[in-house]
Amino acid sequence: MSKVFRFGISLDKDLLDEFDRLINNKSYSNRSEAFRDLIRQELVKKEWQEGKEIAGAITLIYNHHKRELLNKITDIQHNFQKLIISTQHVHLDHNNCLEIVAVKGSPKEVQKLSDMLKSIKGVKHGTLSMSTTGRDIR
Ligand code: NI
Repeated sequence: MSKVFRFGISLDKDLLDEFDRLINNKSYSNRSEAFRDLIRQELVKKEWQEGKEIAGAITLIYNHHKRELLNKITDIQHNFQKLIISTQHVHLDHNNCLEIVAVKGSPKEVQKLSDMLKSIKGVKHGTLSMSTTGRDIR
């Protein structure tokens, strides 16, 4: 466990007010925790840019009645099985499915998998949550 350092930051009053409004809306209990999170966000972004091993989740919303679409989603996932840790399928209603694909691996490959899944005709919405393995983030 590394030491905790305290340091002061000089900020324009208007900018600080904006920051306080932002962190209040996001339910941070204090500025320090909000600031730590901002730093972590930048560190995770850097991991993605530098091609380190990362983790994340791809979510997809689609209509399962389109059989061709279901086959494509399955085929693509089999081709990327080294990246995929697990897949959760939720039946949202009679027509719609939510699929969450947990991934770990190279940012480039994860981005490619996400792009391929999201661009399948019939996928209504897709997101990629770009996160971290947590190994190098404190
Ligand atoms: Ni379903």
